[in-house]
Amino acid sequence: MKIGFFDSGLGGLIALKAVAKALPQYDYEFYGDTANLPYGDKSEEEIFTLTKAGIKHLFDRDCLLVIVACNTASAETLRRLQDGFLKTEYPDHRVLGVIIPTVEELVSGDIKHALLVGTKRTVASGKYERELAKLTDAPLITSRATPELVPLIELGEAEAALGSLVATVRGVGEVDAVILGCTHYSLLKDGLRAALPELKIISQDEIIPTKLADYLERHEEIKSKLSEGSTRNVYLTDNSARYDHVIRELLGGAFIEA
Ligand code: DGL
Repeated sequence: MKIGFFDSGLGGLIALKAVAKALPQYDYEFYGDTANLPYGDKSEEEIFTLTKAGIKHLFDRDCLLVIVACNTASAETLRRLQDGFLKTEYPDHRVLGVIIPTVEELVSGDIKHALLVGTKRTVASGKYERELAKLTDAPLITSRATPELVPLIELGEAEAALGSLVATVRGVGEVDAVILGCTHYSLLKDGLRAALPELKIISQDEIIPTKLADYLERHEEIKSKLSEGSTRNVYLTDNSARYDHVIRELLGGAFIEA
């Protein structure tokens, strides 16, 4: 069986690329809901319905484990899906989010005050703050919604997106770390590090591979069922030709379903 990746768009491919590099032997299936992007401005109910459909698609495509790379879907929807849909319809399958691993990474570093940037829905959910509050030695966290970034990144306007992100970080001032709390923002990490070298930039594509490897080591019942054919399939709900180059760049080519 395979490992699935769910995201509202193409951002999750950055996380998949990093995971597939660290664990190349497994078979991966990506679901990007490009027809319904952006999720960040949608209601919780809409995000729930769309995320459930995406996860079900991945399970039906033989995924045993799905990483919900999308922060917006991880923020509120994930727990609801794990407690309901998963338990009743797919009790042997697993769905993992990205927020808890990110928060753990934050606490393990020497950080006093972090800025979280994410979609409106991720920031409004307060999920990062709630998860941090459960841990000791948690840094102070300030959050800012940056809804302009995802449309710019999807359109390939990375420079404009970076300029806007740098201005947001400078506007907040006294922080020593920035959490890129959205899959798409990982594309801006190098530019942000170059512009603000004094800050620690936390990018989920650098966290998820190790966390997933640890998870699989601890869950032999899952690991032993994963097939090792090194395939990577990408499915987009709006499979526009303008995405081809991004997929080629990020995965070095992959089978694309119609
Ligand atoms: N990929 C989503 C996330 O990680 C954001 C993009 C969107 O708004 O759909 O939060």
